Amino acid sequence: MPALTIVVANLKGGSTKTTTAAFVLHALAEAGLPALGVDADGENESLLAWSEAGEWSIPVIGMPVADLHRKLPGVVGDRYDGVVIDTPPMKERRGVVASAIRIATHVLVPMAPTGMEYARIPAIRELVEEAGALAVTPPQLAVVLTRTVSNAASTDVYRQMLSDDGVRVLRPTVGRLERYAQAFGLPITNAAGTAYGDVADELTSIGIT
Ligand SMILES: Nc1ncnc2c1ncn2[C@@H]1O[C@H](COP(=O)(O)OP(=O)(O)OP(=O)(O)O)[C@@H](O)[C@H]1O
Ligand SMILES: [Mg+2]
Repeated sequence: MPALTIVVANLKGGSTKTTTAAFVLHALAEAGLPALGVDADGENESLLAWSEAGEWSIPVIGMPVADLHRKLPGVVGDRYDGVVIDTPPMKERRGVVASAIRIATHVLVPMAPTGMEYARIPAIRELVEEAGALAVTPPQLAVVLTRTVSNAASTDVYRQMLSDDGVRVLRPTVGRLERYAQAFGLPITNAAGTAYGDVADELTSIGIT
């Protein structure tokens, strides 16, 4: 797999996984990286459906399978330098998420700064540890705070709580904005100029242990 294989994961539904995967994928491609999107969810408002409706020039393939770690490397080959994998939320499809984590260099967990989303973080950490143990190189886990409200105390409060728990939180935050709320199904332009450009930059700079 490429040196940069980002799995966007959160066991909670509706946690901005697909939006995050879409914008990070575009930010990487805009930075000149040959990039591939992988839709390991396939249901609801999926990455593949978005790419088709929005007529993206970046390739996206659908692969919602629990043996992704075996199937994907052959498909990716050495044609891409960056792969972004969107994953399903459902507990029942934990196997798909676990499989993706086995080939990840980075697991990016988007979460809103709320108690409900914070409460779900131990479960994803557990999964990353469990699946990461089966990986050749355990992936780097990083949280990105999304749907933040400017000047609200919650952003710093949850950043601090996560840091105290030993979780890496990326410096950029993604605001709760109409731009993202209305983005599904449309082309994405200048992703590098959004907070997701900074997210991609910081994530890329995190070394692989
Ligand atoms: N930064 C944001 N500001 C406002 N709305 C957002 C933001 N990011 C995502 N959304 C909206 O929140 C909803 C959930 O986002 P998204 O579909 O990306 O989450 P998901 O985790 O992939 O959901 P699912 O678990 O169903 O796959 C969507 O309606 C999306 O448009
Ligand atoms: Mg989704």
